[in-house]
Amino acid sequence: QDAVFEEKPLAGKKVVITAGGTREPIDPVRYLTNKSSGKMGYALAEAARAAGATVTLVAATSRQVSPAIQVILVGDTREMLAAVQKEMATADVYIGAAAVSDFRVAEVADHKVKKHGDEHMILDLVQNPDILKTVGEAKKPRQVVVGFAAETENLVENAQAKLVKKHADLIVANNVLEEGAGFNKDTNKVTLVTADQEPIQVAAKLKTEVAEDIIALVADLLTS
Ligand code: CTP
Ligand code: CA
Repeated sequence: QDAVFEEKPLAGKKVVITAGGTREPIDPVRYLTNKSSGKMGYALAEAARAAGATVTLVAATSRQVSPAIQVILVGDTREMLAAVQKEMATADVYIGAAAVSDFRVAEVADHKVKKHGDEHMILDLVQNPDILKTVGEAKKPRQVVVGFAAETENLVENAQAKLVKKHADLIVANNVLEEGAGFNKDTNKVTLVTADQEPIQVAAKLKTEVAEDIIALVADLLTS
């Protein structure tokens, strides 16, 4: 992979990437999560390293990764946000590839939740902080902020709305219902949405290859 970025376009840059699905505790033995494998975030970390960057991966899912990449393992969304905010103080690029849980349990039980007869169980959920939006709003002029958009309809329109709302420079949009895209697969099919360029449709390919395309565009955005 190093050969793809022979010119090391991210040399001297620090890139912070999130990966995996956050886990929101319910009680001491249970949590809410999603189907994210973390593959896209880990592939981005390797591609950024190959491009010469110093990489910090804030991961909610543990996978094999090259030792040159610093991994900070986190559990829930608020923990991920705190780790990201700390790292962004010295970063040039943020890439939010994690599947962040939109909600968490309002009150985590201190003890294992028990069944009571055959009653319904209702979990009270509250919204989590938006990590990408928080980073986008706090962005320094030369920082580049990248998010993803998981959509099932109106892909480009929804991605453009997220770009604006979260003050991102690039949104990597994927239709998660489409063949060869989305959760827990080795391939992805994405559309790259920026403020200034026409949306770029990338043909379905390996996540490792998609990651290289994203990192190449990030390098362009850093110099433009
Ligand atoms: N994201 C985040 N923090 C959240 C929710 C989402 O940082 N609490 C980030 C994701 O990591 C991704 C981007 O925002 O980079 C878009 O996530 P997505 O789930 O597509 O959009 P949401 O803003 O959560 O909106 P919705 O799920 O309602 O479409
Ligand atoms: Ca969401």
